[in-house]
Amino acid sequence: MEKIIGILAGSLRKESFSKKIAQAIVPLAPEGYRFEIISLDGLEVYNQDFDDHNEVPESYKVFRETMHQVDGVMFITPEYNRSVPGVLKNALDIGSRPAGKSVWDQKPAAVFSNSPGNIAAFGANHHLRQSLVFLNMPVMQQPEVYLAKANELFDDSGPLKEGETKKFIEEAVEAYIKWFDRNAVSK
Ligand SMILES: Cc1cc2nc3c(=O)[nH]c(=O)nc-3n(C[C@H](O)[C@H](O)[C@H](O)COP(=O)(O)O)c2cc1C
Repeated sequence: MEKIIGILAGSLRKESFSKKIAQAIVPLAPEGYRFEIISLDGLEVYNQDFDDHNEVPESYKVFRETMHQVDGVMFITPEYNRSVPGVLKNALDIGSRPAGKSVWDQKPAAVFSNSPGNIAAFGANHHLRQSLVFLNMPVMQQPEVYLAKANELFDDSGPLKEGETKKFIEEAVEAYIKWFDRNAVSK
């Protein structure tokens, strides 16, 4: 059966480089896999009362149901103040509850971080990994994917430019599929 890999970009910005990288990854899915971008638009800030008092917002229900269908996850994260942007952390929190029903458990993951800056969101990459350890996701170790100068990777409205970074992203996606095959647990 076809495996579904969810791609989560940690930005709501219309012209987000993270979203553009996510879009560039979609067509790289090999046979037998489907790469699906999962939007984080409209997810309310997590409030435990919603779960505790059976007042779960529709946006949480849709997100959780969508993520339950997914077999693995690629996170494309920018960096806010040397850490994971709130929108992505919020999605992790929403998906982790109710306790015992996490959408993340045991799903092989990869973290691709990016920034217009040279440090390439190293801080966000590793803060995200910290949460993924707790969420019991086997996260690809190598290659580590730090994409610097994200603002130079795209033409005005075009696809990812040809070059070293594009090749590296293709290799990283290939490595992730191998990682997925080694670590996926059948549902
Ligand atoms: C609140 C805020 C904090 C930021 N902090 C960092 C940072 O710590 N490191 C960094 O490299 N860029 C930082 N940036 C710049 C982002 O890398 C840049 O806005 C980037 O385009 C955001 O990702 P996106 O294009 O996917 O929306 C910050 C931007 C904002 C709005």
